[in-house]
Amino acid sequence: MEIIIRPTSLEGSLLAARIVARTVREKPHAVLGFATGSTPLVLYQELARLHREKGLDFGSVAAFNLDEYIGLPVDHPASFHHYMRRNLFEHLNIRPEHVHIPDGLAADIPAACRKYEDEIRSAGGIDVQILGIGTNGHIGFNEPSSSLASRTRIKTLTRQTRLDNAADFGGVENVPPHVITMGLGTILESRMCLLLAFGAKKAEAVSRMVEGPVTASLPASVLQLHPRSVIVLDREAAADLERAEYYEWTNSQKPEWQKY
Ligand code: PGA
Repeated sequence: MEIIIRPTSLEGSLLAARIVARTVREKPHAVLGFATGSTPLVLYQELARLHREKGLDFGSVAAFNLDEYIGLPVDHPASFHHYMRRNLFEHLNIRPEHVHIPDGLAADIPAACRKYEDEIRSAGGIDVQILGIGTNGHIGFNEPSSSLASRTRIKTLTRQTRLDNAADFGGVENVPPHVITMGLGTILESRMCLLLAFGAKKAEAVSRMVEGPVTASLPASVLQLHPRSVIVLDREAAADLERAEYYEWTNSQKPEWQKY
């Protein structure tokens, strides 16, 4: 794993944006995997700025989102369809037919999940999968005890996740219990996993992800098995890492060609 610690979440977000922008410049038909939540918001603002001011072209890019609530109308303010449109897609020249978000309104959920997997495969696989991490160590909505080999499927949210997301719904009782999420096996097939974590409340999950055992009890730890996971942290999220000094030293010693 490549652990990058930046003093602030702003600097971490700008670094992540450089990685995504470089991917798009080098491969105009890149397939990007997107996440929702508060963590990637500044990264998305920066991608929008690069498009607006520097002409970063998303015209041939394809997008796949990690997850969506089941049963929520796409225009519900807490739906991930709505989030992506508001926070990213309406600010880019990405083509609507290239945007893929799991269909939480499908009549046949298992069929919709199989179709999603097929669409990822047909697009050539995901080049860069952007990820956040839950306070309980989930990535996507792969809650603790998710199979490390899981594919896109229905999941039931833990109480912790529903509490974490309660503000979007005006109370925990309104958070839908069910979601569709890419599986951990699906995420592992991405060519690069780019996980961002900021703030003290993520410090424990981050240290278990990076320095703990690979375990379904902390789903993000599966990224230890990925050949190219880049973990971008601010100092607060890195606070519990035992080898933080080594990770910082590694970064300061990077040869020029390896810098982001
Ligand atoms: P957050 O959510 O970015 O809002 O902290 C991350 C997650 O639950 O995966």
